[in-house]
Amino acid sequence: MEKIAIVTGSSSGIGFETALALARDGFYTYATMRNTSKADPIQDIAKKENLKLEVIKLDVDSAESIKSAISKIVSEKNRIDVLVNNAGYLLFGCLEDISVEDVKAQFETNFFGVVRLIKETAPIMRKQGSGIIVNVSSVAGRIAFPATPAYISSKFALEGLSESMRYEMSPFGIKTIIIEPGVIKTNMLSSFKETSAKPDSPYKKISEKVMTGIKMMGEMATPASEVANTIIKAIHTEDPLPRYVVGNDASMFLEAKKMKTDLEFENYLKKELFSN
Ligand SMILES: NC(=O)c1ccc[n+]([C@@H]2O[C@H](COP(=O)([O-])OP(=O)(O)OC[C@H]3O[C@@H](n4cnc5c(N)ncnc54)[C@H](OP(=O)(O)O)[C@@H]3O)[C@@H](O)[C@H]2O)c1
Repeated sequence: MEKIAIVTGSSSGIGFETALALARDGFYTYATMRNTSKADPIQDIAKKENLKLEVIKLDVDSAESIKSAISKIVSEKNRIDVLVNNAGYLLFGCLEDISVEDVKAQFETNFFGVVRLIKETAPIMRKQGSGIIVNVSSVAGRIAFPATPAYISSKFALEGLSESMRYEMSPFGIKTIIIEPGVIKTNMLSSFKETSAKPDSPYKKISEKVMTGIKMMGEMATPASEVANTIIKAIHTEDPLPRYVVGNDASMFLEAKKMKTDLEFENYLKKELFSN
């Protein structure tokens, strides 16, 4: 039987690599993107490698766009085996420097986009009695860093959602997996680097420190293909773990958090982020 996979945000980075990895692994893959004018690079590779990969339009901010993409997939294939909720972006800025609208927009994509996709696909997986939902969170879904509170809270919310639905859906054969990458070399990192704190902000100093820290980590960033490989391994595991961490930086921070009290960890992170 042909297995069907859907990836959101496949125009670049982790989504691009994951859609290709799934197609190379034998899945008929719907590489979805909100702007299909960015489809050429992935389509060229798929054509060269003779992969079963189809680009379709899907904007996770739009319920209508999601409904139309999923109904097209179901009418063509009548099943969904893997859903990778990957689309997202990072809003840089300390809380006082960003508006409530900015925070809402961040949640609309990073959190409610995932909620909308799951609500459209879970009934299909439940009827089949099988399915895997992969939610691309971040190490920032378990550890808060300064100057990115909107992003951090959207990923913390995604972690809670994923843990809770894992209990609910597993009796129906639906597996939920959280992916927690550290710093990954993608467009997110470069567009994030271009943003800066408002010149008159009282938070300019801390924003700049965080920006410098991320830039430094970016130089040693993990390639997006490593995240894709982790996703492939996880979906082939009989009983997948709740979470998969990708990157030495993420493992290091999470290990330190496990070993320390909240206050000890806060002091450790301050030293890591602001010591130079
Ligand atoms: N890079 C990192 O260091 C890192 C670390 C941890 C977690 N992550 C997570 O990994 C995921 C992928 O990010 P990335 O690093 O691969 O960055 P990326 O290269 O910027 O890719 C982000 C993708 O999401 C898409 N997207 C944004 N808003 C969307 C929307 N409303 N509807 C549909 N697609 C939308 C983008 O489309 P456009 O091309 O149209 O903008 C792009 O395809 C995100 O959830 C991010 O939070 C990244």
